[in-house]
Order: sequence, then C-alpha cells, then structure tokens
Amino acid sequence: MMEVSFYDREQETKEIMDTLRMKPRLITFIYGPINSGKTELITHLIEELPEDYIPFYVNLRGRFITGYEDFLNVLFEIDEGGMIDNVSEYATSILKDLKIVSGIPIPVNLFEQIFERKDKSKDVFKYIEHFFIEISKKRVPVLVIDELQVIGDLKIDGLLVYKLFNFFVRLTKELHLAHVFVVTSDSLFIEQVYSEAMLEERCKYLPIDDFDYETTIAFLDHYGFDMHEREIAWQYVGGKPVSLVRLIDEKASEKKIEDVAGSMLTLRTGEIETMLKRVNELGGGIIIEDIKYSVSYEKLVEALKSFATCEAIGMNEVDEISKTFLVKKNVLFVDPLTKMIKPQSQLNLLAVREVTGIV
Ligand SMILES: Nc1ncnc2c1ncn2[C@@H]1O[C@H](COP(=O)(O)OP(=O)(O)O)[C@@H](O)[C@H]1O
Ligand SMILES: [Mg+2]
Repeated sequence: MMEVSFYDREQETKEIMDTLRMKPRLITFIYGPINSGKTELITHLIEELPEDYIPFYVNLRGRFITGYEDFLNVLFEIDEGGMIDNVSEYATSILKDLKIVSGIPIPVNLFEQIFERKDKSKDVFKYIEHFFIEISKKRVPVLVIDELQVIGDLKIDGLLVYKLFNFFVRLTKELHLAHVFVVTSDSLFIEQVYSEAMLEERCKYLPIDDFDYETTIAFLDHYGFDMHEREIAWQYVGGKPVSLVRLIDEKASEKKIEDVAGSMLTLRTGEIETMLKRVNELGGGIIIEDIKYSVSYEKLVEALKSFATCEAIGMNEVDEISKTFLVKKNVLFVDPLTKMIKPQSQLNLLAVREVTGIV
C-alpha cells in the first residue's frame, strides 16, 4: 500500500489549538460525515501536541458496549503495574513516564474497587476528577471521546450519556480542569445534542467535512495524478479522504482511475437500490425515541429525488421518518447547525441520482 501522509486541515487545527490555549470552558463537539477525517485529525493533533498538554484518547468505535462494565473497560486503561491507593502519587508517576495512552490510566486495584461499588458512576467520575486535578498541576489534561454515540442509547439508571455530559460540563465550565472533545459521525446524535437544553451555552461545534475542491486537487497532485485523473476523482468521490486514499492506492497498482471510481459508484448504487427494494417488498421500520414507525417506500424515493438537481436541501424538506432512516443507512447527513441535509459523500449523491433515475 502507498504511504499517504496527513494532509492539510490547517484551519481546523488552528481552531482546536486556539481552544486549547484558552482556559477550558466549553465541551467541543467535532462532527461531520463518515470518513471525513475526524479521527485522523485528532490522532495527528495528539501526536503533535505541545509538552504542556496530556491527551487521553478513548475511541468507542467498533466496541461492543452493552453495559457499564464494558464502558469502563474502554474508558480506562488498567495499569496492572502495582497496587497504588494514592491517586496523587499515581498521577505523578504517570507524568514521569509519559506515553500516549488510550483511555484514562487507573491502577488495577482502584479499578476493581470501583467495579465492585453499587453506585459506580459517582466513583468513576470522582476518580477521574481527582486524577485530572493531580495531572493538571503539571500539564493540561485533554480528554477526547471518539464516536460517543455508540453509548447513546445505553441506560444505566437513566441515560449514561447524560451523566457523561454533566461530568464534562463539570470538567470544563465549572472546574476549568480539562479540555473535552467529543467526536462523532452520527448526525442524529449531534441533532439530539444540539437540542439538548442541558448543553446550551456549554458546548461549541467544529464541523470537519470532506476536503474542498482546491484541497482535493492539491492533495492528489502529491501522488502523481494528472489533471484529468484529479478531475475524475473529484467528480466521483469529491473530497472524501478515505476514497481519495483508495484511489491513490489503486493508481499505485496501475489501475485506471475511471475504472476504479466507476466500480465504486456501481457498488454504492447497488447497495442503495437493494435497500429500497427491501423496503418496497418487505417493508421497513425504524425506532425513534422508543417508538417504532414504518418506513414508506414512496416517501423514501421522494426524499431521495430532492437531490436530483441540488446537492443539499433544507432540514425540514424531508419527513422525519425517511430522514432518520436514510441517515441511519449512511446515505444522508444532517447538519443541525446549518439546518441542511446532504448525501454523506459525492459518491452517495451520484448513487442516489442514479437510483432515483431508474426506480
Ligand atoms: N487529513 C488527511 N490526510 C490524509 N488522509 C486522510 C486525512 N483525513 C483522513 N484521511 C484518510 O481517510 C481515512 C478516514 O478518515 P477518518 O479520520 O477515519 O474518518 P472519520 O473519523 O471522520 O470517520 C483515514 O484512515 C485516512 O486514510
Ligand atoms: Mg472516526
């Protein structure tokens, strides 16, 4: 495989660094369509973070979390190193031997103590707060939770995600103790966050979208794409980093860009076609706020047809059931800040147009 290095994101990096330079006050929600480069940006930033900061990165993606125990196992990095009761001593030892950690370090004995408690969440938050207070005497803690929506529906005597939000508000607005970044590709989750009264004035948003035209063209130039190939790439996959990297790889193995891009589109078209065919023949359903609704094939098609001539439409131009269904199927992306709906990618836009042209 071709080695593709991290590219651009200067504006977004600057925004995050500006936030980091200030006292922690707000939770930052980093959001955008899938595969737009959110995780890549965050991991790159963490590697380059100045010495005064200490990042704790937790990625829930692909983790199977069905209860509190699973969540704690992901949130924490259990340190089997020894029995330590004193959090302040432990924090000092962590600061000495610094490596990039995934999760919040905790000595195994303290973890087990928390695990046995009845009211776990109180103790979890107490530990993290205490740990951060000690850490922050030397460095500024930066907590990043990637794909938080994975636990969006998890109920542990109330929704866990609300307890986390409360805790994040405490870390930022109240104690100014740690920077908190929440990353998500799930636009329904962001919509929910956006309308959450509890978070009002307590968070801000940073969209990370696919590369724009100029960035895409300049990016591909580094990998020997001639102008024709670059235009083809833009036409088919737009500035979606993951797809551009795929094209770079395929070009390195001497494939024709047209052929690869064409087969990517055929594949996505087929997937969307099958999805619609299933709803048409078998019916489809979706759960919104604990209530199940059936999905209408006609309305889905109507919603998709809105993209025949434009790339984005207003948030309220599609009925709620079709919108939720198509977002869950990763066809559409809703941006609650701009109140617009658009396909998840250029490839999806083209596929939607092909499918609605033939159904
Ligand atoms: N700035 C970038 N420069 C180069 N490649 C990138 C960049 N951002 C993303 N990519 C490529 O796209 C892939 C998907 O990005 P990722 O960060 O995982 O998306 P997201 O977290 O938004 O779903 C990465 O694995 C990487 O190959
Ligand atoms: Mg990601």
